[in-house]
Amino acid sequence: MNPNEVKIEIGRLSKELDHHNYLYYVESNPSIADYDFDVLLKQLQELEEKFPEFVNENSPTKRVGGDITKKFDSVVHKFPMLSLSNTYSEDEISDWVMRITKLEDGELEFVCELKYDGVAIGIQYVNGALTRAVTRGDGSQGENVTSNVKTIKTIPLRLKGDFPKDFEIRGEIFFPLKNFNRLNEQRREHSEPEFANPRNTASGTLKMQNSKVVASRGLDCFLYGVYGTNIEAGHYEMVNRAADWGFKTPKPEKRFIEKTKTVGGVMEFIAYWDKSRGELPFEIDGVVIKVNSYRQQEELGFTAKSPRWAISYKFKAERVETILESVVYQVGRTGAVTPVANLKPVQLGGTKVKRASLYNADQIERLNLHLNDSVYVEKGGEIIPKIIGVNLDLRPVEAEHIFFIENCPECNTRLERKEGEVHHYCLNESTCPPQKKGKIEHFIGRKALNIDGLGAETVDALFDARLISNYADLYDLKFHQVVELERMADKSANNLIFGVRGSKEIPFERVLFGLGIRFVGETLAKKLAKSLKNIDALASATFEELIAIDEIGDRIAESILMFFRDEENKQLIQRLKDAGLNFEIIEKEGATNKFEGKSFVVSGVFDVFSRTELKEAIEINGGKNVSSISAKTDFVIAGDKMGPAKLKKATDLEITILSEDDFIKILNE
Ligand code: IVH
Repeated sequence: MNPNEVKIEIGRLSKELDHHNYLYYVESNPSIADYDFDVLLKQLQELEEKFPEFVNENSPTKRVGGDITKKFDSVVHKFPMLSLSNTYSEDEISDWVMRITKLEDGELEFVCELKYDGVAIGIQYVNGALTRAVTRGDGSQGENVTSNVKTIKTIPLRLKGDFPKDFEIRGEIFFPLKNFNRLNEQRREHSEPEFANPRNTASGTLKMQNSKVVASRGLDCFLYGVYGTNIEAGHYEMVNRAADWGFKTPKPEKRFIEKTKTVGGVMEFIAYWDKSRGELPFEIDGVVIKVNSYRQQEELGFTAKSPRWAISYKFKAERVETILESVVYQVGRTGAVTPVANLKPVQLGGTKVKRASLYNADQIERLNLHLNDSVYVEKGGEIIPKIIGVNLDLRPVEAEHIFFIENCPECNTRLERKEGEVHHYCLNESTCPPQKKGKIEHFIGRKALNIDGLGAETVDALFDARLISNYADLYDLKFHQVVELERMADKSANNLIFGVRGSKEIPFERVLFGLGIRFVGETLAKKLAKSLKNIDALASATFEELIAIDEIGDRIAESILMFFRDEENKQLIQRLKDAGLNFEIIEKEGATNKFEGKSFVVSGVFDVFSRTELKEAIEINGGKNVSSISAKTDFVIAGDKMGPAKLKKATDLEITILSEDDFIKILNE
């Protein structure tokens, strides 16, 4: 291609990718398979690498992040970013509606919206291209976080349709609950402290220096205001118009935004969302009521801090008062000690609450807790209720002050707290019972050795009967020992023994995960297995060799070294090896990860390969075979005599259908 052709091709690919991004993220209605999208993106990336002079600031390749920002510049807002006056009282809302109605003699319309619980952002577009994104900051100036905002897939990098030449759009960046929970799950796996709530985490994420990390977290954004345009319209109409330019805007069908002319309409909206907010896939902390007409907004104007034409109604966080009966301490698999409050049972948000998390020693100190205190319990963003304060008026005389324990409640070892860590740890890994049991439970878990017929309760029973004290002991268990346990029938004992035997087929990466090396979660175990191939190479790797592996930093390398230095661990691994577990990766000939994350349905009769051979080829290249077609299927390989019903289903779901020839072509690419 000559340079001009390259330029045109880059433009064409970008446009196509922008379009598919929009269909996938904003409309939730993709028209091509992920695989095909990835192929297009890769083509564009390759061209951009070869011809950096043609790279556009808003190329779809910017979505994956990669820019490291040392310091975010300060930017003065063209229109100050004000806050809203808010109230918890419905009476004040109706007073406000009445007052506004009296002030304005023309007809009034109100727009009711959700109050998204995230971080405000102002995004500027010039000639349809995203030029800058700035946080609220102190309201008059904020931070330039453009490279991070570009990784948010629902924010268009280039607009479509009939957009204004130069304008700013404002909205709220938030953490969808699904992605927030996934992030915390990963952190649990790596024994990292979990994030407390989606809002603060969204805010922290937006200010991270590595935009690649931001891209991986899956933030989202709703837009709620257009500034600097001359279009004569109301706010509601403008938001709808922004949807035509490619923005994700609140949908009237879902009642995320609603127009009404009456107080009753406003009250109905508030009542609906107070009741239904728990069903949303993101958090809101109230609703916002705005005057629709821009002309009337202008007439009403602003106070120093907030517009007179808008007000927010905040939901009350549900809070109850109850008695703190005791504090107990739980010791986890890693030895981390978590205090938990036992409460006098009380009804809160539809469930009966008996316990509340106290997180760590600092929290106990902050609350200055005493036994039998009357405490306020709230269910906020966090899933587990928490104690937010003490009603000092009701503190019993001479109540006993609660101090964090100094020794492990299970094995009496003195607890330690390393500098910079929030948790106290019991370092007695080798005999502290919950740590030992926890390690076995982790080992048998679904993502590790996945031993059928064995669950936490049975581990407890086997442990208490002294039949096992570590995971290697599982492989010495005999049927007659197991069947003697209380409530253990012949059949269950048999299942257990067979389950243990079956686990010897589990691939190395999952065995490695099961060993429970601190910070080595599922993904990291895969990575280590792939790059070092076997346990001996891992056990003898030096610090330098370890940190040379992608994603492995000092802390993880140290933890791996420490694990393999330990005599007891060495013995455990030897016993597992003797039992026949997999300690090296089984590399199949021609293996690639070409189809990683993709699922296939193979159906019909083929000319070159048998069905089994096709399925093997899929697996060797990292793909997954599934038996029936669903919306989650990525490809259908269709041979002769494939049933018409299946074919129709695949077509209806817009799944890519490959012939045997197509598949062979992709294989050989
Ligand atoms: S309008 C001049 N609409 O609430 C007022 N704000 O306290 C402009 N927020 O900083 C804001 N959802 O971060 C507006 N539907 C919504 C909102 C919303 C959440 C946040 C926003 C703002 C704060 C105001």
